[in-house]
Order: sequence, then C-alpha cells, then structure tokens
Amino acid sequence: MGEVVPLERPEPTPEERPVLVVDLGGQYSQLIARRIRECRVYSELVAHTISADHAARRRPLALVLSGGPASVYADGAPAIDPALYELGVPVLGICYGMQLMALDLGGRVERTGRSEFGRTELSAERESDLFAGLPEEQTCWMSHRDSVVAPPEGARVVGASSAAPISAFEDRARGLYGVQFHPEVVHTPHGMDVLKNFLYRVADAPPVWTAATVIEEETARIRSQVGQDRVLCALSGGVDSAVAALLAHKAIGDQLTCVFVDHGLLRRDEAEQVVETFEGHFRVPLVHVDARERFLTRLRDVSDPEEKRRRVGEEFIRVFEEESRRLGRVRYLVQGTLYSDVIESGGRGSDSSEGVAATIKSHHNVGGLPAEMDLELVEPLRMLFKDEVRRVGEELGLPEAMVWRQPFPGPGLAIRIIGEVTEERLEILRAADAILQEEIRRAGLYRELWQSFAVLPAIRSVGVQGDERTYAYPIIIRAVTSDDAMTADWARLPYDVLETLSSRIINEIPGVNRVALDLSSKPPATIEWE
Ligand code: XMP
Repeated sequence: MGEVVPLERPEPTPEERPVLVVDLGGQYSQLIARRIRECRVYSELVAHTISADHAARRRPLALVLSGGPASVYADGAPAIDPALYELGVPVLGICYGMQLMALDLGGRVERTGRSEFGRTELSAERESDLFAGLPEEQTCWMSHRDSVVAPPEGARVVGASSAAPISAFEDRARGLYGVQFHPEVVHTPHGMDVLKNFLYRVADAPPVWTAATVIEEETARIRSQVGQDRVLCALSGGVDSAVAALLAHKAIGDQLTCVFVDHGLLRRDEAEQVVETFEGHFRVPLVHVDARERFLTRLRDVSDPEEKRRRVGEEFIRVFEEESRRLGRVRYLVQGTLYSDVIESGGRGSDSSEGVAATIKSHHNVGGLPAEMDLELVEPLRMLFKDEVRRVGEELGLPEAMVWRQPFPGPGLAIRIIGEVTEERLEILRAADAILQEEIRRAGLYRELWQSFAVLPAIRSVGVQGDERTYAYPIIIRAVTSDDAMTADWARLPYDVLETLSSRIINEIPGVNRVALDLSSKPPATIEWE
C-alpha cells in the first residue's frame, strides 16, 4: 500500500467531518476505516506522517491510531507527530497504536515474553467508556509480542487478559483511549460495540453518514466541479461506472452523455440491460455503439491472452475517441475510481487537475482511457469502498442485477475463450454462461460467490449422443470465493447444482458434450483462465 495523503477539502459538511485513521502500517488499517463507516461515521485513512496542522484542517471528530507490524522499539518504527494528541479530539490507539500512545505519553512498553495471537479472553471494566453496556468477560482477538506495562500518566486500566494485564486503558479527561486487541476484526465479537462506544459516547460522532448523504454531497461536488461544461462517461455494464454515471446524471442532467461501447464480449442480455436501464429507465442521454463486428475482426486469429487484452483495450479507446469527437467540445470524463484504487496508487489529491495519471487504473481495464484525450476526471466514488458504492447504487434505484453484479473483466468473454474468439464460440460460451448464472442465482449462491462463470477451452473430445458419435467442446465451470481477488478458493458448489448445470449445459447447447469443474485455488492458479 502506498502512502496515503489526505484530501484537501476546505469546509467539510457536518456529515463529512471525518474520523481519521492514522495508518501505522497494520494490515487492518483499511478495515478500521470501513468499520467506522459501517457505524455511519465518515472515516478516511491518512499516512502516519501527517502533521497535526494538516490533520486539524480536516476538522476531524476523532483520531484512531492503527495497528502495525513493528515493535515500537524497532529501527524505523512508524511514529506520529506528538501534537496529534493535543488536537482536542479523542484518540483511540489500537494494538501498535496503543503501544505508541503509551510510549509517547509517559507509559512503558516491554517485550514481556508473553505474546498473544488469536482468540483471547478479556476482562473488561463495565464502568469504562469503551466497555459500557458490554459483558465483563468477553473474547477478543489479539496479535502482539510487546505489551504496555505502564499506561500513560493519568490513564487507568480498563481491560486485562491473562498475558497482558494492561489490555485497555482510558483517560477521560484527555480523551485518550487504547486497546491491545483488534476491535475491527470479526473474531472480536464485541469489537463493533467497542468502536461504537468510542464514536458515539466518547467522540460524540453522530451516525449520520449514509448513502443518501453521500449522494447529496457528491452531486453538489460534481456540480461545482464541472459548471456548465459537457461531461462524458463510459459505461461498461459494471456497478462502478453505472453508479458514477447516475450520480453525475443526478447532478448535471443532460450535460452528461454516456457512451456504451458494445464490444460483443459481454454476457447474454447484458448489453440490452445497460441500454434499457440507462436510456429506458433513467433517461440518461446514451450513445450506444454497436461495435461487435469491429472487435471480432480485431480478434480474428488471435490466441495469445495478452494480445487479446491489448487489442480489446486499443479498439475500445479508438471507438470511444471517435464517438466523443462526434459530440463536440467535452471537458470532463466521469470515472468510477474507488477508494481502494486511490489508496493503492498512493492517493494524491482530491481534485481532478492533479494526480490524474496516478488514478487512471493501470490495469488492462477496458474503460481506462489515455491521458492524450485531455479530459479532466470527475471521480465521484473516489472516497467510497465497493460495498458503499453498492449501497449508493441501491439508493439511486439501480436494478439489483447491476448493483450486485460479480466482478467481470474488461476484455470480457474474450479471455474466457481459450484460443481464437469467433462468433460461433462466443455463442456457445454465452449459452453455457447464461445457464450457469441462472442456476447459481436459483440456488441463492450468486452473492456468496466472488465470481462464477463458464470457460470454453480450445479442445474437443469424443462423446456419444443418441446413436451418434460426437466430437465437441467441453465447458468448464469456474466458481470461486474470495475477499479481494488476490487469493481465492474454489467454491464447494452443492452436487445437485452441479448435476443440474451439467445436464442442462450438455442437453441444451449444441456443440458441447462434456462439463468439467475447476478445482484450483489462487495461487497457484488464477481466477480467470487467461
Ligand atoms: P486473475 O485471473 O488474475 O483475476 O486471478 C483477478 C481478478 O481480476 C479480474 N481480471 C481482469 N479485470 N481486465 C479486468 O478488468 C482484465 O484483463 C482482467 N483479468 C482478470 C478477474 O475477473 C478477477 O476478478
């Protein structure tokens, strides 16, 4: 993860005053921010190098110091500006953050030889702010070698485990709070309650940050950014571009034109759904480009996966440029960049004039447009996590199938057809994939699975149908669970679902005589076959 530089937003609305999560390098820093937002309090991640002045300008409601991998005594251990403790807002230190706070404020941290990893029993003081209303004995999740052996001056101990007698402390007068355990992980059953106590009781942060407030804030921001200028948006069929487009349309109406390039590599009925939703339902000005022939021609005789990606990407840009030229002077481009992309790319700058190159997804994504187009970016989702985008989509009335669509690669079915992409092979894969989607949804598994799809390999095998020998393609079923696509496990689909899939695919699709199941996790396999 790159260093996160906070956004400059001169005057936050009351709903938008953030809880700043100071990232000390822990693996859960992002998760802390997400959990706080789940409590309907707006939160942002900032680098631990943030100055107190800079933090103060954001008018935070509270600070949370995240966990971190290092010992506070290690060389180069991340530290913070000590003036952050003096901002007059409550500070909660978690794990490493708690130890750092203890060390900075006159307490002591030692390697006691009594580390704790995993589930741990905690005795909590119910008279404390953090544990008010919670059970005295509770389970929490710990991960530490060093321990606080003396709290900061003036703080009292409010939680203890057997190996760490100082597992939580608080100093009400100074607004300083620390927990050794991780309230943000699901293995701490009362973790969210502890966070809520900190947010609602201690920091007096009202639970007002909702999808509706996001819509209000982002539409206002879009209006002030683009003024009277024309704005363009490329729709892909995915939830991010759809929600970004709807926000822009709500903000500026017909100043926005959406361009939907149908490259013919989407799933069955998806293109129609995009057109019906945007043009039919939301009445968004839409240029629907039927470029199916062009893409097929470009993909003729191409088998190499990276070459397919390159050609699809290039052709997409060419078509998009042609269409946008037709529209005359356009100054802005709406893009569905998410907060996780911003964090990963180092998160520089909120307004569209700076850091543009860094925020265009470097991924071989269709929809990633070249800087030469000279359009300024409008990125209404750049402070949102994916689940928040979905909630905004629901609030805006986007159909369920789009809001909850599983991730789908930009080059689409082209990288799920091994070997050459032809119309005949596309038709086979679309038919198999449609059956797969239908049955997975019918079994109530669609949202549980990260991705589920069919793959058409470049082999054929012998079969027998009626009295006839066949020589036809197999279809491979690929279904995975995952949190972030970095790792994935093959999904344990129920046998009856597999049975229905196999029999329907073989019986209903001419040209297919076998169904196989992919039992590979990532790594060493990837989710896609190409
Ligand atoms: P792999 O196959 O690398 O995929 O495990 C990880 C995630 O990325 C998606 N993916 C792509 N998305 N353009 C995209 O927009 C691509 O070329 C591409 N290749 C893979 C894949 O669907 C999975 O969610």
